Amino acid sequence: MTNAAFTPRVFSGIQPSGGLTLGNYLGALKRFVDMQDAGKYDCVYCLVDLHAITVWQEPEKLRANTRELAAFFIACGIDPEKSILFNQSQVPAHSQLAWIFNTVARMGWMGRMTQWKDKAGKNSENASLGLFAYPALMAADILLYHATHVPVGEDQKQHLELTRDVAAKFNHDYGVDFFPITEPVIEGPATRVMSLRDGTKKMSKSDPSDMSRINMSDDADKIAQKFRKARTDSEPLPGNYDELKERPAARNLVDIFAALSGRTQADIMTEVEGMQWGTFKPLLADLAVDKLSPISTEMTRLLSDPAEIDRILGKGADRADSIATPILEKTYELVGMVSSRG
Ligand code: AMP
Ligand code: TRP
Repeated sequence: MTNAAFTPRVFSGIQPSGGLTLGNYLGALKRFVDMQDAGKYDCVYCLVDLHAITVWQEPEKLRANTRELAAFFIACGIDPEKSILFNQSQVPAHSQLAWIFNTVARMGWMGRMTQWKDKAGKNSENASLGLFAYPALMAADILLYHATHVPVGEDQKQHLELTRDVAAKFNHDYGVDFFPITEPVIEGPATRVMSLRDGTKKMSKSDPSDMSRINMSDDADKIAQKFRKARTDSEPLPGNYDELKERPAARNLVDIFAALSGRTQADIMTEVEGMQWGTFKPLLADLAVDKLSPISTEMTRLLSDPAEIDRILGKGADRADSIATPILEKTYELVGMVSSRG
């Protein structure tokens, strides 16, 4: 059986661990909205609170960050009537399928994950068991919906390969074609938005320098200042994108411009050829303010009514549950669990 036998369905998730950046917007949210609006897929979007607690989260902050992330999704254009939007912990089947996958995935697979190595660091003895098992929960998130497509940033590629390995091993071990072999969707000009201070490092909420990133909470002045001060080289912009190959900081600003404007890099290059940074950076800053300000204004409005956000997440969880529960039950049956309750 190929994936053609499955309903085309998108699943993706983001951790509510605070500090949303332009990287999250361009690498994830904007693309989630595009996939929703393409009208070709069922879309399921999840605030992965169970993943967030694999490293310590202050309980009240986690709750606030979850609502803030929900507001971010909606403000960016996710329509909770069209797409399913919910937080992971409200659908117990995620944890239940993750347990099954803990018995499918191998220690060696998990140990090779670069995110595990980076996050656990030298002191892996003291990292949580959940952080090690993180990719099995992620595989459960995706496969619980028989998702066929998963849009993510470049940094999640390895986890998606592991998801495919889990699906293939389960199907093989139990002699079935039950789980799809999910396609990662890592496309567009901004699958890896880089730091504004160092074009070879990913833009990240954990970078000690606030100037390295655009936060979704930055106001217009801050955004303009950060782009003005972004590190570049002293060469003007070429007319051909390929010529930026060895100029990562310059390429990053062009990528951001292309992604924000919904155009290709090649298209942008024809317009900016020969331009100096002193001219390009203000154009980029204006474009960014134009696109990001309405999102943050809408987020503030949504967050003034947390009960409404909770209602939306509750409804999303009910809809998610109705897809997930039959798939979990079928999985239990395939594994050989006795089921005798009414
Ligand atoms: P995180 O906030 O790191 O959990 O990431 C949530 C989503 O945003 C994932 O799909 C990431 O791949 C994406 N993402 C985070 N940072 C970046 C970045 N600098 N460039 C592109 N995508 C990113
Ligand atoms: N690991 C992802 C990240 O840190 C978040 C995530 C959890 C996810 N489950 C997922 C992404 C399922 C895509 C699909 O960004």
